[in-house]
Amino acid sequence: MTQRLNFILNNQEVDTSQHPGMSLLDYLRQEAHLTGTKEGCKEGDCGACTVLIGELIKDQIQYKSVNSCLLPIGDVDQKHIVTIEGLNREELSPIQTEMVNEGGTQCGFCTPGFVVSLSGYYLINDDYNTEDAIDSMNGNICRCTGYAGIKRTAHKITKKLNVALNNNHSKIELVVGEKILPEYFLDVKERLNSLINKKGSKVADDNSNSSYLYTISGGTDLMVQSWEDILKSDITLISDKNIISGIKEENGKIIIGGATTASAIEDSPIMAKYFPDIKEYFSLFGSLPIKNTATVAGNIVNASPIADMTNIFLALNSTLTLSNGSSKRKILLKDFYKGYKTLDKKENELLTFVSFNIPKENSFFNFEKVSKRKYLDIASVNSSILIDVEKDLINEINISAGGVSPIPLYLKKTCEFLTSNKINSKTLGEASEILQDEISPISDARGTAEYKSLLLRQLFYAHFIKLFPELIIIEELL
Ligand SMILES: Cc1cc2nc3c(=O)[nH]c(=O)nc-3n(C[C@H](O)[C@H](O)[C@H](O)COP(=O)(O)OP(=O)(O)OC[C@H]3O[C@@H](n4cnc5c(N)ncnc54)[C@H](O)[C@@H]3O)c2cc1C
Ligand code: FES
Ligand code: FES
Repeated sequence: MTQRLNFILNNQEVDTSQHPGMSLLDYLRQEAHLTGTKEGCKEGDCGACTVLIGELIKDQIQYKSVNSCLLPIGDVDQKHIVTIEGLNREELSPIQTEMVNEGGTQCGFCTPGFVVSLSGYYLINDDYNTEDAIDSMNGNICRCTGYAGIKRTAHKITKKLNVALNNNHSKIELVVGEKILPEYFLDVKERLNSLINKKGSKVADDNSNSSYLYTISGGTDLMVQSWEDILKSDITLISDKNIISGIKEENGKIIIGGATTASAIEDSPIMAKYFPDIKEYFSLFGSLPIKNTATVAGNIVNASPIADMTNIFLALNSTLTLSNGSSKRKILLKDFYKGYKTLDKKENELLTFVSFNIPKENSFFNFEKVSKRKYLDIASVNSSILIDVEKDLINEINISAGGVSPIPLYLKKTCEFLTSNKINSKTLGEASEILQDEISPISDARGTAEYKSLLLRQLFYAHFIKLFPELIIIEELL
């Protein structure tokens, strides 16, 4: 495998023929000897390895924070990578200074990750507030200092930059002028442009998937499960395929490209229009760096019974488009799973689109998730509902349930029972009996089978209590 990779690493151009499945973290530490980026968990959980990745899109560089331990280096071709060394100047930056002054660092192992995430926040966003600045570090864990000093740092820098924001600078000029970033950032756009011109823009491959052992999209499942095997195997990257990342509204449908990330869905104005609580749902999905790389197709094809995006798309009764390069076919998501990690998908097929009907005027949607810890955890049980009602009469209903079966589950019988029925405590009590017959939870680290059955019943009730409080007498459900 001799594909050359060309990218800008901090202020330096890199030309390498490393295996494209090598993690960026391993490249940084072992090959580039940039050891400021730390290896903590190598599973996307601690944020010690956080870097920024900038990509030229429509003549603007768009940066995002990512976990370098899960990012295949093949994905950084023609991009700008920023590590903690790339933020350093002769003197400490204001963020580094305040981390020291406010007691935000002790052993220092986590500190580069925090500084990179926070610097990225000011580079990426158009306006600043302390809450969001703190949230931008939600993927970074500190095991010895505590977070108060780090939060004070975010507060102080946000206040300072908000004053500076009013002087008509471009964003990059502002953050460079305030010494959050070094001056070389001002030229990176031109340098990326000339790198791309020199090498020639990438030509996307077709959508077939035939001769590779591993097909990596965001890598947030695969690079955790199989990173050692990946290094020894022939791999392909979804970023080299003709798979769209984006969300559009067309002919009464919402169509989402397979390469669309969780962050893109969370921030999508189209999704917000039809699902006003979308940000709340996605606040329960991983950290920012994970959401910045985790894709819709990866979530669905990985076939985890507790996958959150899959759970949502099941209740939206979504259709998948699969392509083998020469032909494509459509299949309902609820028919896609045949058994534990067994899919109705041929080896050479890739998932290119997920689509669903725009909810009708009388439709309501809700997503519920319970984990051992509320944020930054995978579900013990999750459930989504899409319900179309006329007063208290159910015209159409779709409910999904995760963590209670070997596959992401569509509750077919429960939905059939509820259709044309009225919403009241008695009907819901009867429906919850049917629901219990449809599931087959097992006991594991996330709870006993009995606990998960009970949890799903509570989440099922929670949908109705949240959406139709006036129709439910809670005491009658107990
Ligand atoms: C720290 C951490 C936290 C997480 N938190 C959550 C969470 O809260 N909720 C949740 O649901 N998940 C979570 N995940 C799991 C993971 O992030 C998601 O499942 C994610 O959506 C996977 O997408 P990906 O692009 O990273 O997939 P990858 O790892 O790249 O791929 C996963 C599988 O999908 C296949 N694949 C990818 N794209 C395509 C395609 N277009 N066509 C055909 N096959 C394809 C790959 O070959 C592979 O088999 C978490 C993971 C980590 C590491
Ligand atoms: S090393 Fe912990 S998130 Fe990457
Ligand atoms: S300063 Fe030691 S882990 Fe954060």
